[in-house]
Amino acid sequence: MGGSPTAEIVRRALRRGTVVPGFNIPYLPMVEPVVRALRDARSAGLVMVARLEWEKFESRSLEAVAAEYRRHADRRVTRLHLDHVPVIDEDGRAVDYLEILGRAVRAGYESVMVDGSRLPLEENIACTRRAADLAHAAGVPVEAELGAVMGHEAGPLPPYEALFASGRGFTDPGEARRFAAESGADWLSVAIGNIHGAISAATKGLKKVEARLDIAHLERIRRAAGVPLVLHGGTGIRKDCILDAIRHGIAKINVATAIRQPYERALPRGVAAAQDAVYEAMRVVLRGDLEIEGSVDVLDPEEPA
Ligand code: 13P
Repeated sequence: MGGSPTAEIVRRALRRGTVVPGFNIPYLPMVEPVVRALRDARSAGLVMVARLEWEKFESRSLEAVAAEYRRHADRRVTRLHLDHVPVIDEDGRAVDYLEILGRAVRAGYESVMVDGSRLPLEENIACTRRAADLAHAAGVPVEAELGAVMGHEAGPLPPYEALFASGRGFTDPGEARRFAAESGADWLSVAIGNIHGAISAATKGLKKVEARLDIAHLERIRRAAGVPLVLHGGTGIRKDCILDAIRHGIAKINVATAIRQPYERALPRGVAAAQDAVYEAMRVVLRGDLEIEGSVDVLDPEEPA
C-alpha cells in the first residue's frame, strides 16, 4: 500500500491550515460516488463507517465496508477510517469496543475512533488508553472524544441557541490537556457548539439545525491539547465558522447527513440515481462548504511530515 499513513496526513493538514474530511457510509453503494467525487475534485478524504451505521443503517459490518472500499479505493485521494466505536452507545448499552477495534485493525482500517465521551473523565482516559495500546501496536492512530457532541441519542435536543449559550457539554480545556497527555489519543474530537445529525427513524430525514462554533473556546482547547482536533457533526455548520475552525486547530471534519439524506431521498428512483445524488452533494461539500478542491497534495508522500 504506498502513500503517507493517515497520522502523517492529518498532521500535515494541521500544519498547512487545511482539513481532511471523513465521509460516513451508512449504505454500501455510497462508497463509489464518495471516492469518485474525491478523485474528480482532487481532494484528499477518508471513507469511514461508525458502529451505529451497521447497527441502525445498512452498511452491514465494518468488514463489508472495508471490502466495498477495496473495490473502489484510490490511494491517491482516499484512506479508510473507523468512526465512532462507543464504549457506551447512544442507547446506554455497554459495547465490546476492543473486540470491534481489533477486527477493524485486521480488516485494514488505517485509523480508528474510540468514543468514551459518555463516561467520566478518568474512565474515558482509561478506555482510550486501552484502545490506543491495541491500535498503536498495529501502527494505527486513534481518535477519541472529550465533551458531549449531542444528537445521536433518541429524544429531542434542547433548543440549539440555549445549548450554545450555556456551553453545556463543551470540551473543557483543562481536561483536554490531561486527556491528551494521558490517553494516548492521536486526535481529539471536541464539542464547541457542533451537534450530530439525527439518526432515529422519525428524525433522520429532517433538516439539521444550523450550528455555530465557539472559536475562542476552540483556541483554548487547541493550546491545551496540542494534538490535531476533529470536528464532528460537520453538516449544517455556518461556513464562516468552519473555515475559522480550520484556522484554529481542526484538521479533520466528519460529514454524514449532507451526503446520506440526498441518497435516501433519491433511492426511490434507484441506486444509480442515489449514487449520483451523493456525488453531487460531495461536490458541494468539497468545493462550496470546505473549499478543499485540489487538496490532494496533503497526501503527498514526498514532503516530510
Ligand atoms: P453530520 O451528520 O452532522 O454530518 O455528522 C457526522 C459525524 O460527525 C459522524 O461522526
